[in-house]
Amino acid sequence: MRKIVFVTGNSGKFREIKAILEKRGIEVLQNTDGYPELQEDDLEPIAADGARLSCEKLGLSVMVDDSGLFIDALNGFPGPYSAFVEDHLGNPKVLKLMEDEENRRAYFKSVIGYCEPGKEPLTFTGIVEGNIGYEEKGKGGFGYDPIFLYGDRTFGEMGDEEKNKVSHRKRAVDKFVEWIDSNL
Ligand code: IMP
Repeated sequence: MRKIVFVTGNSGKFREIKAILEKRGIEVLQNTDGYPELQEDDLEPIAADGARLSCEKLGLSVMVDDSGLFIDALNGFPGPYSAFVEDHLGNPKVLKLMEDEENRRAYFKSVIGYCEPGKEPLTFTGIVEGNIGYEEKGKGGFGYDPIFLYGDRTFGEMGDEEKNKVSHRKRAVDKFVEWIDSNL
């Protein structure tokens, strides 16, 4: 079985990626060491740099996932600061910021960074479009899932199995797997 080390402290991300890749015969091991994140507006350079640093440190093939929620009416906020905003403000305050906004459009983006020792890092991007709800709904998933409407239900209401069929992370993983299948 192929093995990939996934460097992340986020158990929600790990659970989702492990479930998706295991179905493709790839074993995913979690490493929670973390890595210093670049300050950038785009997720791609952050993921590439994280994968390169972790790969150099561990001497193994590694993947990272940098992801975030981009809200139209807030000009893409919280974007690359999604984890910080979630930890310090949380969903109720994000909903408050959106109180008077009619434009509820938003998207989740996930960028997988992958690096093998001695090679340049690669990135694989997935996006899912939806809307910000008016209240938190559902107890599934993690982070902004209870306020992200995909169709008429939130990711929080869908549960992992259903979310994993359409999520930004699934779409990024699909591209990654396609690359693995033709290159490894
Ligand atoms: P990162 O660790 O810098 O990639 O932070 C990503 C943050 O974006 C997470 O901590 C969540 O707040 C948010 N996020 C990313 N993906 C998801 C998702 O699938 N559901 C809910 N929130 C997410």
